[in-house]
Amino acid sequence: MAKNFYITTPIYYPSGKPHMGHAYSSIIADIFARFKRMEGYNVMFLTGTDEHGQKIQKEAEKNNKDPKLFCDELSETFRSLTKILKLTNNDFIRTTETRHNKSVKEIWKRLVKSGDIYLDKYSGWYSVSDEAYYDDDEIEEKEGKKISKISGSLVEWVEEESYFFKLSAFQKKLLDHYNKNQEFILPKSRRNEVIKFVEKGLKDLSISRTSFSWGITVPENKKHVIYVWLDALTNYLSAINFPNIDDEKYKLFWPADIHIIGKDILRFHAIYWPAFLLAANLPLPKKVFGHGWILSDDKKMSKSLGNILDPIEIIRDYGIDQLRYYLIKEVSLGNDGSISMENLKNCINNDLANNYGNLCQRVFAFIKKNCDNKIPKKVDLKESDILLIQNLKNSIPKLIGFINKQNLNEYIRIVVNFSFEANKYFNDSEPWAFKNKDRNRMNAILHTIVEHIKNISILLYPIIPISTKKVLNTIHISDKDILIENIKKDNFLNCKTELKSLDILFKKIENDN
Ligand code: MSP
Repeated sequence: MAKNFYITTPIYYPSGKPHMGHAYSSIIADIFARFKRMEGYNVMFLTGTDEHGQKIQKEAEKNNKDPKLFCDELSETFRSLTKILKLTNNDFIRTTETRHNKSVKEIWKRLVKSGDIYLDKYSGWYSVSDEAYYDDDEIEEKEGKKISKISGSLVEWVEEESYFFKLSAFQKKLLDHYNKNQEFILPKSRRNEVIKFVEKGLKDLSISRTSFSWGITVPENKKHVIYVWLDALTNYLSAINFPNIDDEKYKLFWPADIHIIGKDILRFHAIYWPAFLLAANLPLPKKVFGHGWILSDDKKMSKSLGNILDPIEIIRDYGIDQLRYYLIKEVSLGNDGSISMENLKNCINNDLANNYGNLCQRVFAFIKKNCDNKIPKKVDLKESDILLIQNLKNSIPKLIGFINKQNLNEYIRIVVNFSFEANKYFNDSEPWAFKNKDRNRMNAILHTIVEHIKNISILLYPIIPISTKKVLNTIHISDKDILIENIKKDNFLNCKTELKSLDILFKKIENDN
């Protein structure tokens, strides 16, 4: 059976610098991409920037820049963030690229062909910052201003000629799809929200604008630019060479296995996108996972509140693995989660420095001092040694299950627990006590603990790739061998060659006071 896996992040508006929310979506997707590769899948992992629409046009005007040049600069900061976050994306798509333009036009043509587009006039509320239309009952007034109840963003009244997509005609088909595919929208709470919304009835959707020009023009009517969400969602197809559906990439990777998104853009991905695809006669993605928000001081990050957390600063001060670990361990994936520097420091000190880091360091130091810096051969294992390794091996199907259900929190909890157990095993087995009286026993303990470190490192690799690679390299496991199947193999350790040296993995963070 083909083992292909296609995962995407949202494509980000390059209207300002990237913040922690963007980093969060990308890190989550990267963890799944890395894990799937470790399982032997051929993974396509896509991210990029969403560059058309009124929001970007306005932002460019504010900065006195041509929108394309404005996007060129800011898109670059998102591209460089992929490097800083150590993402393993295979592609970075920009919606201003020709390949994307072609793909959006083809989608448009398919919608015209299926008879799902008509010309009319839109009058209603629009939020430029969300690039979203809102109904009257979704609007409230605050301090004399009209805002969306859903996002809190300012809305304005819009009246203009517009093409409409017959979304109303897709209510039943969508509900059937949700019903037949229980995991199409996850987590469950989000699925229920979407179903409730669709059950209330869907209105046709305005899918073109005429009051500005920054976008992809409607093929048959140059006055109109295509609604930025129809444009943006299509990126998931453009990157795999749609409209060429005979192309190898398209055949391998469509339908996508999972779109990772924030809960704020669920409606677009779980209602509009599948409806567009149904109309275009294309298969639907298998899953849309909406994660919660990262809160700063218990509030959503925003420029006006001045509580924006800059991932680049945090990474500079604490390190990328530290941030990745913290976000996954401490924020419950489906829910909103506050992050604080205090918790980040505790997490680095307790879990990374004192637990996993310390385990590796003390075991390798002991081997260096007492075993000519080579992993001792496996000899005369006791039941407790075998059990330690076996417990972890037995948990692999369960761990794969957690990943497939996007339950990263449970995954990491179990893996970190192995690391705590490993420290306890090392302390309780006291290899130092056998140095002079029973070398065989000492060797058995050391071989066991290194094997366990290898396995824990492989399992932690998707989350903390930089430090686990260092550890695995120390014991001569190369990048291409960081695979789940190498946890299952016996006698995988190289006991002939001296260990490479290992620098401090995680510096402990001192408290400021
Ligand atoms: N361009 C659209 C997405 C188009 S996808 C076809 C967009 N861009 S965005 O730049 O505003 O942000 C996209 C995503 O960033 C959100 O869906 C979410 O995944 C992430 N986050 C932005 N702020 C966030 C938090 N405060 N917390 C967590 N993630 C959030 O929407």
